[in-house]
Amino acid sequence: MNHQGVGILYGVGAGPGDPELMTLKGLRIVQRSPVIAFPAGVDGKPGMAQRIIAEWLQPEQVQLPLIFPYVQDENRLIEAWRSAAAQVWHYLRQGQDVAFVSEGDVSFYSTFTYLAQTLQHEHPEAIVQTIPGVSSPMAAAAALGIPLTIRSQRLLVLPALYSVTELETALSCADVLVLMKVSSVYEQVWSVLHRHQLLHRSYVIERATLPDQIIHADLSDRHTLKLPYFSLLIVMIRSQGVGE
Ligand SMILES: C[S@@+](CC[C@H](N)C(=O)[O-])C[C@H]1O[C@@H](n2cnc3c(N)ncnc32)[C@H](O)[C@@H]1O
Repeated sequence: MNHQGVGILYGVGAGPGDPELMTLKGLRIVQRSPVIAFPAGVDGKPGMAQRIIAEWLQPEQVQLPLIFPYVQDENRLIEAWRSAAAQVWHYLRQGQDVAFVSEGDVSFYSTFTYLAQTLQHEHPEAIVQTIPGVSSPMAAAAALGIPLTIRSQRLLVLPALYSVTELETALSCADVLVLMKVSSVYEQVWSVLHRHQLLHRSYVIERATLPDQIIHADLSDRHTLKLPYFSLLIVMIRSQGVGE
């Protein structure tokens, strides 16, 4: 709570999946906050962040699933962000802190940004603090046992829905490329990587750090893959090993 009696909204990065990869600071805030918010799961299943923190929650803590629909319609999105901000404000104005947990890091393509920005727009007196988390590209590199970048390598991240031209441009100017949300466009990506002879330098990681993690190293014979939403692709376009 701040000195005006309003609670603080904490954005806590829950890490990529393994509960032990949450930061000590994030865990401390989750354990001491009376209200724990998180993106609601789909089809009645708990969401990723909710699963990551489940073992740390106490029965007396309020659990607040917030709906962030997977749609492109800007009006529906704004409506959802406003509704989420109003639900959070309900507790903050009573002086209760709210910890919003989200998978990975909360500044990296995260729903937390929409919640925090909407809240501060509607209630400028609201106070927001961000606790970083382990992001999925870093977790994926650790799972692969490779450095994500070394020396002067340039890293480029494409968030989603990249066109072939965008991908071609990225391949021409980066040394290491990370493709997030790759599941729905995997086959198009495979064809471009095939054309550029980069399949043997490409990796797909499904559910990094979770018990059912799967690694596909060298995609040469993986033209089709049925990937879950939590998967990403790393292309080591130009490597720089020791002595190179
Ligand atoms: C909306 S973004 C959120 C990114 C997250 N804030 C982070 O810091 O990693 C969701 C995308 O992140 C990637 N992702 C998140 N967690 C992952 C994991 N454990 N394994 C593989 N990819 C993951 C996937 O590409 C997924 O489609």
